[in-house]
Formats: sequence, structure tokens, C-alpha cells
Amino acid sequence: MLKRYKTMLQNSWIWIAGLALALSASQATSAAKATKKPVEWEALNPAFNGATFVNNPETCRICHQDPMDTYDETMHAQALKHTVTNGGCESCHGPRSKHIENPTQELAFEKLTPAQQSAVCLQCHEGGNRFGWKAGAHRANDVICLSCHSVMEKKSERALLAKASAPETCFQCHGEVRAETNKTSHHPVREGRMDCASCHNPHGSTPGLLVKNTLNETCYTCHTEKRGPFLWEHAPVRENCANCHTAHGSNHRNLLASKDSFLCLSCHSYGGHVNLPRYNRVSNPYGSGCVNCHIATHGSNHPSGAKQTR
Ligand code: HEC
Ligand code: HEC
Ligand code: HEC
Ligand code: HEC
Ligand code: HEC
Ligand code: HEC
Ligand code: HEC
Ligand code: HEC
Ligand code: HEC
Ligand code: HEC
Repeated sequence: MLKRYKTMLQNSWIWIAGLALALSASQATSAAKATKKPVEWEALNPAFNGATFVNNPETCRICHQDPMDTYDETMHAQALKHTVTNGGCESCHGPRSKHIENPTQELAFEKLTPAQQSAVCLQCHEGGNRFGWKAGAHRANDVICLSCHSVMEKKSERALLAKASAPETCFQCHGEVRAETNKTSHHPVREGRMDCASCHNPHGSTPGLLVKNTLNETCYTCHTEKRGPFLWEHAPVRENCANCHTAHGSNHRNLLASKDSFLCLSCHSYGGHVNLPRYNRVSNPYGSGCVNCHIATHGSNHPSGAKQTR
């Protein structure tokens, strides 16, 4: 028994590799697998009563050539070619036999509540980034998948977004953030080097819909050198980067929440400062004084860096 356990350990890399393989395989097929648990169309909308799946998009083409031409450019057209509902139309639109005989609006998507509309998409997209969707701020405010995604027409390079880019998609409702990203100091969102989803998971449920559980963890994903640990920590940095920085934009340099020395003086008193006489001569505290000497404001690893001066 023990021996077997030992060889198992010796071969543990095989187990790990196997597990990793199994995991990646299950991820790859998760979307397809979920279709085995289709939505209850009749429960969503009684007008589906008695309808069956046509299972042939060519039937739809007879009357819907135009929307199908644009749909054919989307990732779904490729990905759902061989699903149970052949082409996927009825995965989202429900069984359509009655509709073909008598086309009306009564089966339309818009007849469903916001939560039901999203449920149609979630039959295949429940996991991954959407793990927290049901508890998230967007769903709680009746924002639906289609607020941000366009599925019948490809309008963005990636992720079937409703507008050409993620920021444009978000600015439909968050116009105030656009104004912030236009300030002099800003994350390079408008330059296209990063976007809203670099920091936010719009499907998530963390406070502020951030990609990580806390604000600081979110910042560390790119600014790893600020994580520390430092020999001499600066308490407000460890607590929350937003004690001093804004994330979207600021008219003060370095995304600072206020002008340098005012920022420091909002927590520190300046009277009695060791360098007071010299300090007054060298640089006015209302200029950009403090960090001229306290260069290690995020923390210091220097043996004598307790006062962040090195
Ligand atoms: C991923 C889900 C999904 C798939 C797959 C899908 N649709 Fe749609 N379709 C929608 C949604 C949501 C709307 C309503 C919002 C909109 O128009 O974008 C819609 C709207 C439509 C409309 C009405 C709007 C218009 O432009 O006339 C038609 C017709 C239509 N779809 C046909 C089809 C056909 C045919 C297929 C298969 C070739 C298909 N859809 C595949 C989700 C889907
Ligand atoms: C005989 C023609 C015809 C066929 C075949 C047909 N449709 Fe339609 N469809 C229509 C008409 C007409 C409308 C508009 C109804 C209205 O505005 O009252 C419509 C509307 C729609 C809509 C938007 C409103 C709604 O009911 O959701 C969707 C989605 C749709 N069709 C999907 C499909 C799909 C999927 C198929 C293939 C399984 C299909 N249609 C086959 C004629 C047809
Ligand atoms: C029948 C299953 C199914 C349904 C229903 C479905 N999807 Fe998808 N979706 C897929 C598959 C398969 C892919 C391909 C990528 C993958 O495996 O995740 C995909 C891809 C996507 C992508 C990524 C596109 C890209 O370019 O990366 C988005 C966004 C998306 N779906 C949104 C939606 C929305 C919104 C709805 C509801 C209107 C919906 N899906 C309904 C199966 C589905
Ligand atoms: C508030 C806007 C917003 C809403 C609401 C939203 N999405 Fe997204 N979604 C995005 C953005 C932005 C991306 C691109 C993310 C990225 O770049 O990593 C995305 C990416 C995706 C992707 C592809 C990448 C991934 O995360 O797997 C899928 C699939 C997807 N969304 C499905 C959905 C479904 C299903 C819903 C509804 C339950 C939904 N989305 C609601 C904005 C949104
Ligand atoms: C259809 C409108 C709509 C779109 C599009 C939209 N949002 Fe929202 N968003 C809301 C609403 C409504 C709320 C909740 C009320 C509020 O806080 O303003 C919200 C809240 C938020 C919050 C704050 C959550 C919290 O916990 O305080 C963030 C962050 C956010 N959205 C990011 C995004 C991002 C990123 C995008 C684009 C990928 C986006 N939103 C697209 C409507 C939208
Ligand atoms: C560098 C990371 C980062 C980027 C990029 C980013 N955000 Fe934020 N966003 C944050 C942080 C951090 C918060 C504050 C969250 C909190 O207080 O919990 C926030 C808050 C928000 C809020 C809540 C209201 C507010 O202003 O505090 C909205 C809405 C929002 N962001 C939308 C967006 C949109 C839209 C984009 C893209 C144009 C975007 N964000 C890009 C980090 C970012
Ligand atoms: C997805 C990566 C990413 C994340 C996450 C991120 N940043 Fe940044 N940050 C950048 C990039 C890229 C720059 C621009 C660097 C450049 O221009 O050389 C930057 C620049 C900055 C600057 C300097 C701005 C200036 O005007 O010079 C500050 C301060 C900053 N980030 C703080 C934060 C804070 C606080 C957070 C968390 C809320 C955060 N960053 C999250 C990528 C990121
Ligand atoms: C006590 C206030 C304060 C806090 C809290 C703070 N910073 Fe800063 N940060 C500053 C100041 C002041 C500057 C400008 C430094 C300079 O000019 O030498 C700066 C500059 C930066 C810069 C750009 C220059 C550089 O050093 O790379 C980045 C990136 C940055 N901070 C990230 C962060 C992150 C990430 C956090 C949270 C872990 C954080 N800051 C917390 C005050 C703070
Ligand atoms: C949000 C409040 C806050 C802001 C803003 C702030 N600090 Fe601090 N700072 C603190 C706290 C709390 C401590 C830890 C005090 C302690 O341990 O007694 C500290 C410690 C220090 C120390 C070490 C003090 C000692 O006695 O060891 C220095 C130096 C310092 N801060 C300089 C600055 C500078 C320079 C700025 C502006 C870039 C700044 N602080 C901004 C809260 C703040
Ligand atoms: C000319 C350089 C210089 C400037 C400018 C400066 N400091 Fe200092 N500061 C020092 C030195 C040197 C010390 C003491 C270091 C030591 O004891 O090792 C110190 C100590 C401190 C301490 C710790 C106080 C204590 O009693 O130990 C705080 C807090 C502080 N400074 C905040 C600030 C703030 C806030 C500003 C801007 C308004 C500022 N400093 C500007 C050089 C400077």
C-alpha cells in the first residue's frame, strides 16, 4: 500500500499532467455540453406550447436571408454549425415549427423578461467568467447580455460586442468614465493599449466588478513591483491604492487623487517636520515637495528606509 503510494507520488507529474489535460478538455467542451440541459421554452413563453424544432436553418433562409448573411460572419455561426439545432438558430430562438406556418412576433426575444433573455444565453455560457453573474451588479440592475453583446451581426473584432470596442460598449451607459479617461493622466484606454476589461469583469460580482477580489490585487496584476512585501511598508498603500490614486483618470500627474503635497498633508501634519527650516527653503510644501525626498512612497527595502527617503 505504502509502496504503491510512493510510486504514485513519483509519477505524480503524470497525474498532474492528466488532470490539467482533463481540465482543459472539460473547459473546451463546456459550452457544447451545456446544451444538453436546454431551456424550458414553454415555461419561458407559453406561446411555444406544441412547437417542435425544425432543425434546419435553410428553412429559415427562405424568409430571413438578410439577418442570416450577417449572422454567418459571427463566431456562433461557426461554433454552432453542428449542434442539436443545426446552425444554432433555435438554440436561441426556441422551437419554430409553429412560427414557420404562421410567422408572428409572439415568440420574440423581447417578450421575455431580462433575466429570461440572459438565461437563454447562459444555457451555454454559465461557467467561467460568468460564474458570479447572478449575484452581480449588472444583473441586479436588469442589464442583460444583449446590452453589451450583438449576436446577429459581428460589430467588433472580438467577443461579439454591441459596439466596435469594449470602452464604446460601456460608454453607452457609463459616459462619465469617458470624461475621466480624457483627463491628462490616464490609463492608456483611449490609446487602445488596454480596455475596461483589463480591470473589470462586467459579468462578475466582486465589489466594483473588478477582475480580482480586491482593488489592490487588481492593480498588482500589472504593477507587480508595488505588491512588496517591503521592509518598510507605507500603511495606506497596503490598505488601498485608491487612498492616493484614481483608476480612470486625473488632471494631477501619476493619476493622483490630488496635488502631491496636499495629498500627503491630508493625512500627515507638516508642522514639526524634521527638515522644516531647510524644507521651506528647498521646496514649498504646496509645490510637489514631499516625494522629492520621500522617494519610496510605496514602501522601501533599504535598511534605513523607514521614513521612505531611500
Ligand atoms: C446566440 C443566439 C442566437 C442565435 C444562434 C441566432 N439568433 Fe437570431 N437573434 C438573437 C437575438 C438575441 C435577437 C434579437 C436581438 C437582435 O436583433 O440582435 C435575434 C434576432 C433575430 C431575428 C429578428 C431580427 C431581424 O434582423 O430581423 C431573426 C429573423 C433571427 N434572429 C433569425 C435567426 C436565424 C435564422 C438564426 C440561425 C441562422 C439565428 N437567428 C441565430 C439571437 C440568436
Ligand atoms: C415563411 C417565412 C418564414 C420562415 C420560414 C421563418 N420565418 Fe421567422 N419570421 C417571418 C416573418 C414574416 C417574421 C416577422 C413577423 C412579424 O413581424 O410579425 C419573422 C420573425 C422572426 C423573428 C423575430 C421575431 C420572433 O419571433 O422572434 C425571429 C427570431 C425569426 N423569425 C426566426 C426564424 C427562424 C429561426 C426560422 C427558421 C427555423 C424562421 N424564422 C423561419 C417569416 C418566416
Ligand atoms: C447553444 C449554445 C450557445 C448559446 C445558446 C449561446 N452561445 Fe455564445 N457561444 C457558444 C459557443 C459554442 C461559442 C464559441 C466559443 C466557446 O466555445 O465559448 C460561443 C461564443 C460566444 C461569445 C464569444 C465570441 C468571441 O468572439 O469570442 C460570446 C460573446 C457569446 N457567445 C455570447 C452569447 C450570447 C450573448 C448569447 C445569448 C444571446 C449566446 N452566446 C448564446 C454557444 C452558445
Ligand atoms: C456590461 C457589459 C456586458 C454584459 C452585460 C455581458 N457581457 Fe459578456 N463580455 C463583455 C465584454 C467587454 C467582454 C470581453 C471581455 C474581455 O475582453 O476579456 C465579454 C466577453 C464575453 C464572452 C467571451 C469571453 C469570455 O468571457 O468567456 C462571452 C462568452 C460572454 N461575454 C457572454 C456573456 C453572456 C452570456 C452574458 C449574459 C449573461 C454577458 N456576456 C453579459 C461585456 C458584457
Ligand atoms: C445597458 C447599460 C450598461 C452598460 C452597457 C454597462 N453598464 Fe455597467 N452598470 C450599469 C448599471 C445600471 C449599473 C448599476 C448602477 C450603477 O452603479 O451605476 C452598472 C454598474 C457598473 C459598475 C459598478 C459596480 C459596483 O459594484 O459599483 C461597474 C464597474 C460597471 N458597471 C462597469 C461596466 C463596464 C466595464 C461595462 C462595459 C464592459 C459596462 N459597465 C457596461 C449599466 C451598464
Ligand atoms: C486600471 C484599472 C481600471 C480600468 C482600465 C478601468 N477601470 Fe473602472 N474602476 C476601476 C476601479 C479600481 C474602480 C473602483 C472600484 C471600487 O471602488 O470598488 C472602478 C470603478 C468603475 C465604475 C464604478 C463607478 C465609479 O466611477 O467609481 C464604473 C462604472 C467603471 N469603473 C467603468 C469603467 C469603464 C467603462 C472602463 C473603460 C473605459 C473602466 N472602468 C476602466 C478600475 C479600472
Ligand atoms: C492591465 C494592466 C494594468 C492594471 C490592472 C493597472 N494598471 Fe496602472 N498602468 C498600466 C499601464 C500600461 C500604464 C501606463 C504605463 C506607461 O504609459 O508606460 C499604467 C500606469 C499607471 C500609473 C501612472 C500613470 C501616469 O500618468 O504616469 C499609475 C499611478 C497606475 N497605473 C496605477 C494603477 C492602479 C492604482 C491600478 C489599480 C486600480 C492599476 N494601475 C492597474 C497598466 C495597468
Ligand atoms: C500614499 C499615497 C499613495 C498610495 C496609497 C499609492 N501610491 Fe502610487 N504613487 C504615489 C505618488 C505620490 C506617486 C508619484 C511618485 C513620484 O512622483 O515619485 C505614485 C506613483 C505611482 C505609479 C507611477 C510611478 C511608479 O512608481 O511606477 C504607479 C504605477 C503607482 N503609483 C501604483 C500604485 C499602486 C499599484 C498602489 C497600490 C498598491 C499605489 N500606487 C498606492 C502615491 C501613492
Ligand atoms: C491616507 C492617509 C495617508 C496618506 C495620503 C499618506 N500617508 Fe504617509 N502614512 C500614513 C500612515 C497611516 C502611516 C503610518 C504611521 C505610523 O506608523 O505611525 C504613514 C507613514 C508615513 C511615513 C513614515 C512615518 C514614520 O514615522 O515612520 C512617511 C515618511 C510618510 N508616511 C510620508 C508620506 C508622504 C510623503 C505622503 C504623500 C506622498 C504620504 N505619506 C501620504 C498615512 C498616509
Ligand atoms: C528636503 C527633504 C524633505 C522634504 C521635501 C519632505 N521631507 Fe519629510 N522627512 C525628511 C527627512 C530627512 C525625514 C526624517 C528621516 C529620518 O528620521 O530618518 C522626514 C520625516 C518625515 C516624516 C516622519 C516624521 C517623524 O517624526 O519621523 C513624515 C510623516 C514626513 N517626513 C512627511 C513629509 C511630508 C508630508 C512632506 C511634504 C509636505 C515632506 N515630508 C517633505 C525629508 C523631507
